[in-house]
Parts: sequence; structure tokens; C-alpha cells
Amino acid sequence: MTTKKLYIKTYGCQMNVYDSARMADVLAPLGYAATEVPEQADLILLNTCHIREKASEKVFSEVGRLRPLKQAAEAAGRRLVIAVAGCVAQAEGEEIQRRAPAVDIVLGPQTYHRLPELVRRAEGGERGRGLVDTDFPVESKFDFLPEETGGQGPAAFLSVQEGCDKFCSFCVVPYTRGAESSRPAAQVLDEARRLVAAGAVEITLLGQNVNAYHGEAPATAAGAPSSWGLARLIAALAEIEGLERIRYTTSHPRDMDDELIAAHRDVPALMPYLHLPVQAGSDRVLAAMNRKHSADDYRRLVERLRAARPDLALSGDFIVGFPGERDQDFAQTLRLVSDVGYAQAYSFKYSTRPGTPAAAVEEQVPDPVKAERLAMLQQLLGAQQLAFNQASVGRRLPVLLERAGKHAGQLAGRSPYMQSVTLEAPPRLLGRIAEVEILEAHPNSVRGRVAAIEPEPVRVDSAARGCAAASAA
Ligand code: 5AD
Ligand code: SF4
Repeated sequence: MTTKKLYIKTYGCQMNVYDSARMADVLAPLGYAATEVPEQADLILLNTCHIREKASEKVFSEVGRLRPLKQAAEAAGRRLVIAVAGCVAQAEGEEIQRRAPAVDIVLGPQTYHRLPELVRRAEGGERGRGLVDTDFPVESKFDFLPEETGGQGPAAFLSVQEGCDKFCSFCVVPYTRGAESSRPAAQVLDEARRLVAAGAVEITLLGQNVNAYHGEAPATAAGAPSSWGLARLIAALAEIEGLERIRYTTSHPRDMDDELIAAHRDVPALMPYLHLPVQAGSDRVLAAMNRKHSADDYRRLVERLRAARPDLALSGDFIVGFPGERDQDFAQTLRLVSDVGYAQAYSFKYSTRPGTPAAAVEEQVPDPVKAERLAMLQQLLGAQQLAFNQASVGRRLPVLLERAGKHAGQLAGRSPYMQSVTLEAPPRLLGRIAEVEILEAHPNSVRGRVAAIEPEPVRVDSAARGCAAASAA
């Protein structure tokens, strides 16, 4: 089969990074191999993000830049197929076709198992509405995807849950990704074993609201529960030999149940880091956001988590300038941040998303006010992150060496607390966990030196362990 070239550009969250890899998997049987060079591509796929206005506008400018490439390919007598996938495709499928005629295929996040069919038709010269697929099909795409074509390296992502039923009033996810759904536990465990066999030492479980996970339980004796929550899934994953580290993201405070809190105490492979967005510290704003929890609910939850795992490092998401947010509301966000203490965090200016309830609220906050609040919040969060990094200086932390560093002779990895760690180390240590003495703290990373290497993890043939999780259940 002739090899065709596939160029994928991914925007947005880790779920999109995962989805892009899986789209490459479904296209491999059609003869597509990845390229880093868009000029060489026969198929360009933009996997897009709709979460904030800036993210979606980027897509239209990128498509504009691709148009000359398409024309150049045509002038040279070859076909360049352009596909827009992901959440912008889902939300603005028709608009994309209208504004960007160079786009051949529009594909939502729930239908990418159908991509090969659409690509074949586009390759055959078909154009127009028929190549827009933004369904929410009854079938799960995961039942139709081929096995992954390669490993993801030492730190892998695994999507276990998708969509969201929370309907925060600012958020497009329930509309673009659809209703909350979970993959069956057996499917997740099989994929995890394959990832470990291909070199993964750490797996991050992904979901828009991952702690709402409630996947079908593996076939078990009568009387066992028919579905597993995230804590049960994590316990089963922790049994996989060679899988040293487990993380999960992103969580909603309301779905943090007792079992999951206990897992932070009981499962050593579950890393002491949790991304737990709160969005705001004012109860008035939280209610308008439809968050379904108060600021004190969140404080109490953090207390319980830290009682279970005293060294738990917290991360969060914050929105400033939500419609109706006053100075005194924002002051409560600062207070909450001071009370909780974050190891890192993401913060954003509220961005109006068409079709969401908050977009219709009249009392929008002017942009300069949002900018001022964001700067204040980021200063506080930045100081907390630096303090957290400084507190690790002099400590020895196990670091998974995930990738080459920026400079020759350097490797980079993550501490259990998700800190980015750089150090001098030979490439043969890639994929290993090293005991690292932290020497120096920076705002977004720490620098260390290898003090010792942990023994290489034992890898057991995945097929031989096929029933381990089911029998444990
Ligand atoms: N404006 C700004 N930030 C948003 N987020 C989601 N929707 C919006 C919006 N309309 C942020 C939230 C969420 C993160 C993924 O993106 O903080 O947790
Ligand atoms: Fe969006 Fe997260 Fe709220 Fe769901 S829980 S609506 S994904 S912000």
C-alpha cells in the first residue's frame, strides 16, 4: 500500500491529544502515516477546542493559512484533504463549511470511528454536507476503534469517560461532547495493559468529568455490583505490574465520593496530586455558575482529602469576570485560594460561549476589569506555586523521566506532585523512575540531580495477565 501522509494539529485539552492519537490509529489501515510537515501532507486534520472564544477563533485562522497549501497541492496534481474535528466541528459544523470552503470533512468528537469512510469519500472527490458528521451516535466509538498502533511513551493518557451532565452555566462541554458516558472497565483495563506492555509507567485517566466514571463492571460472580466507580477502577489498574503511577483528570467536587477519597490514602500508585477545579470562591457566583457546591463545601472536601493524603498537591481552574461578579465576590476567590493553597492552577477570563446560559446574562463584566482580576489572581497563584516548588528544595523525590530536556544532556520528567523536573541524565534513563534531589526552584519547574535509580519495573506479558482484574473483582 502506498504511504500517504497525515498531519494532525491538536488544540485544547489532553482528551484532544488522546483523540488525535486514536484518529491516527483509525487512519493507519488506509495507509496514512504521520508527518510533522503540513506541506507534505495528503490529509490535514485539525482537532479543535471550543472551550473559550480564542480557542475557536484560532481554528478559522489556521484554516485560512491552509488554503494556499490546498491550492498548491492541486496545482501539482495531487489532492490535499482537510478535515476539522473536535469540539469546534461539533458546535459550528455548518459555519465551518460556509466560512471555509477549503475544509472537506467536518467531524465531531463522538464519530471519529467513521473517519475512514469520510476520508475515502473525500479522496474520491466528494464534497459538501455529506461529509459533515456531528452525530451523537448510539454506538460507542470505542467499540469500533482498532488497537493503538504504538505506545505513547512512559507517561500515557487513557480516556475512560467523556461528556458531562453538570451543565455549568459557562461551559460548552455538555453540548460539544454530549452526555456523560463511561467506558466499560474491562475495555479500560485491556487498553491499560497494552499501554504498559508498550512502555507506559504512568497512566493518566482522562475524562471531562472523570470522577463521574461509572463503567460497566467486568463479568463477575452474581451479586457483584454491575458498575464500577473511579476508585474501583483505580484499584484494579494498580494491580497491573509495571504500572507504577496513576493519575486522573479532570474532576468535579460533587463527584468526589468517599471511596475515591479513601483511594488517595490506600493506593500507593495513585499520585498525590489532584486537579480539582472550583472556578470561584463566592457562593453567589458559584450558584450562578450552577456549580452545585459552595465555597465551604469545597474547603471541607479539601480537608477530607488532606486527611486521607496529607501531602496531596492541589491544582484547580478559576474563572474571573463571570457575569455579575463584583469586587467583593472576586475577593472571596482570592480568600479561597489563600485558604486552600495550590501547587499549580489554571485561570481564565470568562469568555462568552454562544448557546450557554451565562451568555444571555446582561450584567457582563468589562474586559479591563477581568484583566485586572486575572492579573491579581495569577500573582497569588504564581506565588503559591513558587512557594510549593521552593518547599521541595533539598528533598528527594521519585521522578519519572519522560522526555528529553530542552538542552543536550538533559532529561525532563514529573515529580509525584506533577512538578516539572529537569536534570542532567543520560538518555538510557528515559522511562525510568529516578530518585532526584531537588536543587533549585523556578516558578514553573524545579531542577534536580539524580541521587539513585529505582529498579526497572517488571513487565509481564499482557495476554498472560488477561483475567487478573476480573478475578480480583
Ligand atoms: N470562559 C472561561 N473559562 C472557561 N472554562 C470553561 N468554560 C469557560 C468559559 N466560558 C474553563 C473552566 C474549566 C476549564 C477547562 O476551562 O475553568 O474548568
Ligand atoms: Fe464544563 Fe466541567 Fe462544568 Fe462539566 S463540570 S459543565 S465539563 S466546567
